Amino acid sequence: MNTAGTRLTILGGGGFRVPLVYGALLGDRAEGRVTHVTLHDTDERRLRAVAGVLSEQAAGRPDAPEVAVTTDLDLAVTGADFVFSAVRVGGLAGRAADERIALAEGVLGQETVGAGGIAYGLRTVPVAEEIARRVKALAPEAWVINFTNPAGLVTEAMSRHLGDRVIGICDSPVGLGRRVARVLGADPDEAWPDYAGLNHLGWLRGLRVRGRDELPRLLADPELLGSFEEGRLFGADWLRSLGAVPNEYLHYYYFGRETVAAYRAAARTRGAFLADQQTAFYDAPTLASWNRTRAEREATYMADNREASGDTGGRDRADLEEGGGYEKVALRLMRAIARDERTTLILNVRNGTTLGVLDAAAVVEVPCLVDANGAHPVAVSPLPEHAVGLVTAVKAVEREVLRAAATGSRAAAVKAFALHPLVDSVGVARRLVDAYTEEHPGLAYLTKP
Ligand code: G6P
Ligand code: MN
Repeated sequence: MNTAGTRLTILGGGGFRVPLVYGALLGDRAEGRVTHVTLHDTDERRLRAVAGVLSEQAAGRPDAPEVAVTTDLDLAVTGADFVFSAVRVGGLAGRAADERIALAEGVLGQETVGAGGIAYGLRTVPVAEEIARRVKALAPEAWVINFTNPAGLVTEAMSRHLGDRVIGICDSPVGLGRRVARVLGADPDEAWPDYAGLNHLGWLRGLRVRGRDELPRLLADPELLGSFEEGRLFGADWLRSLGAVPNEYLHYYYFGRETVAAYRAAARTRGAFLADQQTAFYDAPTLASWNRTRAEREATYMADNREASGDTGGRDRADLEEGGGYEKVALRLMRAIARDERTTLILNVRNGTTLGVLDAAAVVEVPCLVDANGAHPVAVSPLPEHAVGLVTAVKAVEREVLRAAATGSRAAAVKAFALHPLVDSVGVARRLVDAYTEEHPGLAYLTKP
């Protein structure tokens, strides 16, 4: 590790959320903090736009991390202590196409869940694996923190090259734990979440505060249940039936028809909305317009789901003020590793023996103890039967995506779609593969039977 200061490389450095990360870095004054940031992107215009916003953020801050930009991947990763991988293969136009094509078949096209997540995974895995190979060759000591969605699947793909040196992050489970703690009047930093599953497919089964599980108190109280985002999304009765609080993304599973209907009725899909929003930002990129655009993105997050569940109140102020929070998770993770500042975080790591229903190499999302040696999953309660069903089904889908990416097999791609619980027909799966391969240049590799 570099004693002079930590060097961070951000792949997807022209991405919209990079200023969030840089903002978090600016707030870190401690010894060993990040002093050099290298932004890498394949798109020079976006790189310049984001670098401009970062220099506005750094104005008047002589100790602000230095920023360099490059379109050369090898140059970007060489010498890095940490690599944040936050790429979006196919851009937001690709995300919008994922949604449109799935909805035309009457199934969900969300970027991480269902058909959309599979399409996005199929074109992202080969790129993520190439990144992993370059890091392994040029910066074997670096830690890779994967932000790229679908984060669990992409982290597993990268872990085949990097082992435990790649760690996937997501702010949804952290946000869930924080919201539930707040509702129960507990300090989120002192509450221990018994959370487990896959990325965007996990359940909070308990929340221990000073050794006592406080979740039963929440589940028994309809008023408390109605007072936070997941409570309103799923409804008190369903949460009591489950005896757990699911990750917000489970809404697509438990209310599949309603969410597809809401997506079809929407004027624009999420991807199309974000694409329009960001086109305007990149045309005139300033810190002020970035702030406005970001606030609008946060406020409209999962709006169609909230509408489908009859929740018209908008997002809670605390959730909006905390923002996505994922940059904070990333910073905490990086500090814990770089300075041995031990902490616990819910992360995407290889399972080992944590969840008995999955093999050791499967990437899962569980609470981890993080120290200078990386992220170590801690013991959690076994998954309840209903969760085992979904988790093993979706992991099987992910494995078909990885197989398709490794072999170029179209049949494996069809199998991935067909096995997904939210795609209810092999016929639909075949048509999806046809339509997606026609749309996305990044799927041109699916040439084998
Ligand atoms: C949550 C999810 C992330 C996702 C983000 C933004 O934080 O956990 O995986 O990238 O929301 O979602 P959006 O729909 O605004 O792109
Ligand atoms: Mn996420």
